[in-house]
Amino acid sequence: MKIMVVGGGGREHAIIKKLKENKDVEVIYALPGNGGIAQDAVCVDIGAKDIDAIVNFAVENKIDYAVVAPDDPLVLGAVDALNKAGIECFGPVANAAIIEGSKVFSKNLMKKYGIPTAKYEVFSDISEALEYVETAPIPTVIKADGLALGKGVIIAETREQAKDALHSMMEDKVFGESGSNVVIEEFLTGPEVSVLAFTDGTTVKPMISSMDHKRAFDGDKGPNTGGMGTVAPNPYYTEAVAAECMEKIFLPTVKAMKAEGREFRGCLYFGLMITPDGPKVIEYNCRFGDPETQVVLPLLESDLLTVMKAVSSGKLDGTEVKFSDKSACCVILASKGYPTKYQSGFELTLPATDSDTEIYVAGAKKDGDKLLSAGGRVLGITAVADDLKSAVAKAYETADKVGFENGFCRRDIGKRALEEA
Ligand code: AMP
Ligand code: GLY
Repeated sequence: MKIMVVGGGGREHAIIKKLKENKDVEVIYALPGNGGIAQDAVCVDIGAKDIDAIVNFAVENKIDYAVVAPDDPLVLGAVDALNKAGIECFGPVANAAIIEGSKVFSKNLMKKYGIPTAKYEVFSDISEALEYVETAPIPTVIKADGLALGKGVIIAETREQAKDALHSMMEDKVFGESGSNVVIEEFLTGPEVSVLAFTDGTTVKPMISSMDHKRAFDGDKGPNTGGMGTVAPNPYYTEAVAAECMEKIFLPTVKAMKAEGREFRGCLYFGLMITPDGPKVIEYNCRFGDPETQVVLPLLESDLLTVMKAVSSGKLDGTEVKFSDKSACCVILASKGYPTKYQSGFELTLPATDSDTEIYVAGAKKDGDKLLSAGGRVLGITAVADDLKSAVAKAYETADKVGFENGFCRRDIGKRALEEA
């Protein structure tokens, strides 16, 4: 079979490595992939948002199955366009991807169907929004409606910060049209859990839970990033919490989408907070998380391609999705200065890995025989072990052998999880 994976980060590298375990897979094309993914797939210089070129490539190369991994092409309708051209795909169609593409949509969906989430108001008029934050409880959370590279959420600790955020989103349009509408919501507290779930629109099969580490520096300090590391499973996601999430969040969400005529087939990502009042939805994503995928997929024992095809053909109910009872840790090596200003082009030397360790390449390009850093998040080093403590130790042991002069990582990935466990 010929497979095509749209995207080019660490998440896509992890998906590609897992898909390769299927013996029927002859070749995987990555659009655009990256210099490290090139070890495992044929990289094609087509951007993930160039829908026409993606469809042409798939048709010309007689692709048997496509996986669209990033949010942008999903929201732009890549799966709709590929399906229309006769290409079977993993990922939601655009009218379902809106669950991530519009926070106003997802908040209204949750309100309509009684799915637990933070209380909120929606504003399209800046003077009304400014007036609202004069009396709103502080801290308050301000979210741009549309996609904003994971940066569209501001936790305002003061009224001044809230007003600044509103000016920059709604007036200065720092996130473009994504900030035309904003959601202002209640600040929730509690540990966060990420749950990625396979769903075919009716059946939901959650994957192993995970914990992201979003802030740039140790001790959850510094700016928000795309994610500096992950562990799985997440110790806060107990069996009781999982049962409550299934009953009050996962099944109701999938049912609600279907009832709205927006059947969701793909990976639905639930960003949850375990508040004193029970689990609540912080955000939905219409795709695999990054770097959650880099700890979840190494623990998947079932064949990924088989599961994906069951999802896209509506047959998930009869398909086993089995996870190992081991633990995994992924440590991200990022360029110094990420997530704001950083330089690229530094040589990367990767140590040998064993069967329990993977190096996923998020941002790198080839230069002859050399691999050079290219981007903010550069590598994700994942280790799998019988327990979380060993997985964390092994991930750092491998990360410390990587040659990357301009790199940095957090030293406390998994610390909070280990304390809780
Ligand atoms: P998001 O990009 O939506 O995942 O939000 C980024 C981060 O902001 C989340 O991982 C949370 O840590 C935090 N956050 C978002 N919404 C809230 C909220 N209502 N209360 C507290 N923290 C929040
Ligand atoms: N790690 C969070 C995300 O993928 O959005």
